[in-house]
Amino acid sequence: MLETPIIPSADYSKVYEPAEDSYLLLDLFEQIRCELSSKRYAHSVPLVVEIGTGSGVVTAFLNKNILPKALYLATDVNPHSCVIAARTNSHNATSYNMDVIRCDLTSPLLTEKVDILIFNPPYVPAEKVPEIPKDDKDPRWLDLALDGGPTGMDITQRVLDSLHTILALKGEAYILFCARNQPDKVVEDFKKKSPGKWDVTMEIRRKAGWEMLSVYKFVRLCE
Ligand SMILES: C[S@@+](CC[C@H](N)C(=O)[O-])C[C@H]1O[C@@H](n2cnc3c(N)ncnc32)[C@H](O)[C@@H]1O
Repeated sequence: MLETPIIPSADYSKVYEPAEDSYLLLDLFEQIRCELSSKRYAHSVPLVVEIGTGSGVVTAFLNKNILPKALYLATDVNPHSCVIAARTNSHNATSYNMDVIRCDLTSPLLTEKVDILIFNPPYVPAEKVPEIPKDDKDPRWLDLALDGGPTGMDITQRVLDSLHTILALKGEAYILFCARNQPDKVVEDFKKKSPGKWDVTMEIRRKAGWEMLSVYKFVRLCE
């Protein structure tokens, strides 16, 4: 069993604490580690991007245990997460190959550069996606980690809509859903929009309390 990264110090009233969803991603990456490390990506040194990195546990896990020679970029709108994620990575990883950007999703990235994209989004159905607090000390940063709008899909759908401009050819995205997001229907609609261009598979599914979580892999096929 691969080691879970240590998070040196984090204030979990401001930063998302790793939970069942984070650990589902870790378990998946452990299961498919040979596939991940043997695949030929568009770039010989693959670019791995995690959107909404939170504590940085997922990126640090991949960097430490699975793809130590990749380049890592983690993003988050929450400034507290950006500080903690950088710290988590340097505490656990062996090489200096990771950076964190405070931004919305992947907004500052050049198009079609990402080889592996990971997103454990705010997937909980809620009246609306919270506004980004103006003040670092605002107590509502955690709401941004959870609330995903009426079907929990507002933020994830934005990523899906721009996946073809984020991923490099042969690139793949690992995106987490809860059952209330209706992931099968989401995938069906996604594939209908660009037939033949994507291979989408459900990679892992697990009950977490009363929630059913799953991770889907979206692979951009060669044109
Ligand atoms: C469910 S948490 C996942 C945290 C971490 N990746 C994990 O698995 O433990 C979702 C994260 O997405 C971040 N987030 C929410 N909206 C975002 C956006 N528009 N752009 C970037 N990050 C966002 C939140 O601040 C939070 O850290």
